[in-house]
Amino acid sequence: MPRKSLPAGIRNKLEQEAAKVMKNAHAPYSNFHVGAAILLTNGQIFTGCNVENASYGLTNCAERTAIFSAVARFGPKIEIRAIAVTNDHGVACSPCGACRQVIYEFGPDAMVFFRGKRGPKQAHITELLPEGFRLL
Ligand code: THU
Repeated sequence: MPRKSLPAGIRNKLEQEAAKVMKNAHAPYSNFHVGAAILLTNGQIFTGCNVENASYGLTNCAERTAIFSAVARFGPKIEIRAIAVTNDHGVACSPCGACRQVIYEFGPDAMVFFRGKRGPKQAHITELLPEGFRLL
């Protein structure tokens, strides 16, 4: 299960990038700004923020925004090594169920960094999403 740990410097960099992109969030309905940064196994970092909509259910979370832009840039063969998530309320915020499944699709061995109830946490994606769904 938990595989290669990530150097602290890289984790910090991901958290910084997530905090930076959080400022671009479009979140006028929840007023909850979220940023995410993913590290790919090729070393590249991609970021994303939440993008809400007046039709609330169309909202895209920060995590999925980051992942979809990486796919748009490099195609579907990307692999996520790690993902960091931040929010502007300093509250616990782990990826939602939909995002866990999307992280798993492109990062079945990904480490996830987020804020838990008692501060910063890290978890392997399979701890957050046991028995993730796969077709391939
Ligand atoms: N949100 C994210 O972007 N990522 C998460 O991990 C949790 C929730 C967004 C969705 C919505 O725009 C706002 O936070 C409130 O739910």
